[in-house]
Amino acid sequence: MVSRVIPVKTFDLVIFGGTGDLARRKILPGLYRRYIAGQIPEGSRIIGAARADLNDEGFRALATQAIEEFIPAKARDAATVARFVEHMHYVSVDATGTGGWKELAKLVRKDVVQAFYFSVAPALFGALAERLHSNKIANEQSRIVVEKPFGRDLESAQALNATLAEHFDESQIYRIDHYLGKETVQNLMAVRFANILFEPLWNGRHVDHVQITVAEIVGVGGRGAYYDKSGAMRDMVQNHMMQLLCLIAMEAPYKFDPDAVRDEKLKVIRALEPVKPEEIVRGQYRANRDGKSYVEDSENPASLTESYIAMKVHVANWRWAGTPFYLRTGKKLRARTSEIAVVFKEVPHSIFGDSEAWHENVLAIRLQPNEGMTLSVMIKEPGPGGMRLTEVPLDMSFADALGDSGADIPDAYERLIMDVIRGNQTLFMRGDEVEAAWAWTDPIIDGWEARGDRPKPYDPGSSGPEDALMLLHRDGRRWRELKE
Ligand code: BG6
Repeated sequence: MVSRVIPVKTFDLVIFGGTGDLARRKILPGLYRRYIAGQIPEGSRIIGAARADLNDEGFRALATQAIEEFIPAKARDAATVARFVEHMHYVSVDATGTGGWKELAKLVRKDVVQAFYFSVAPALFGALAERLHSNKIANEQSRIVVEKPFGRDLESAQALNATLAEHFDESQIYRIDHYLGKETVQNLMAVRFANILFEPLWNGRHVDHVQITVAEIVGVGGRGAYYDKSGAMRDMVQNHMMQLLCLIAMEAPYKFDPDAVRDEKLKVIRALEPVKPEEIVRGQYRANRDGKSYVEDSENPASLTESYIAMKVHVANWRWAGTPFYLRTGKKLRARTSEIAVVFKEVPHSIFGDSEAWHENVLAIRLQPNEGMTLSVMIKEPGPGGMRLTEVPLDMSFADALGDSGADIPDAYERLIMDVIRGNQTLFMRGDEVEAAWAWTDPIIDGWEARGDRPKPYDPGSSGPEDALMLLHRDGRRWRELKE
């Protein structure tokens, strides 16, 4: 059965912070790719709104440049780009003052889908929300899109939610976690809930443990000032890794519907146990021949911020009791690789006796790069001479399996922006989800701050601090190799 692509209605999308980094790297190139896919209806407007003193022409030139920089040459041509940028307009707006709001009000139409992307610092969310209302630009159907960081703890997240709630209903608020827009992340749900094969085994009786890895090669150079106030826990675990954990651990929602899915994710977050200090390893990269240390990159010689974290997490419910989830993420590691590995238990009794080749079945879902899935299974080694077992992968890369459509995986932002226009909140975080995630995260961070824990040094290009290996070794397990 092939489902059809849901059509998009004519829209006005206002991008506050339209000249900023996120707009240039992700939003504008993403919209261009959707334009090529025929999903930007004629008559739709993409309106940049920022402090810079630009006009429509200037904004179109900025968008053209961004597309040239971030879209490969084979996927664009000058004539199409020129037609695309005709959809663009620009208003110079003072987020905290009065300048530009009247002009914006004139440009944004009432009779089309309206979306306002707050691609600005969270400190401006309140001012923008208030002005959209006082200038009678937004209405009950308008949607607003906000980005992480959504708070830095429970209190600040609650304050942000309250600010937005003054002017917008929860059904109008789209909180982006771009991991949810990744094609393979959504495939987690497809694999679990569109196949009968896995679900009966998807529990603590059959799953020994789960490993979730998001490893990066890059350091924090260039954004050290932001990162130093976050660290890996706030930057990656509280949001992206939490979402991955939820999709793996949640119960089947009764329907693929925004609140049904988010209700189930919320239950997982609420079921997370506090993490013991000995089950957390924090690391910080040091300098080596090839590059600077974290403290140099962050320009904070006394920094105790972690650029790596590994932890053992328990989901306290019937399905997962006794099955740990090991999470790890870090910068300047050996490989850029993100994967989820579901490691199954051994067979209850081996009729083949002991075999050195014996391995558990592992379902590895590769989020990036080379998106796909591998199921490792045991088979007989060919040839006579007894029943010798060997492990082989049942390997599926989306590129091979789906041909061109698998090779050309859309960027997360493309899908998420179009979901906003379509009015589908399934892949966006609800306010209570974000707050629950902070409620679990806060005591962990408070704990290491109160103890004055220092992150363990690790070498750039390694797989993280030695202690992280111990986290699994002492449970008789080991991390999967970090490789692309
Ligand atoms: C961002 C983090 O949210 O996600 C970055 O702030 C991180 O520190 C990035 O590098 C990773 O995203 P991706 O899509 O490259 O895996």
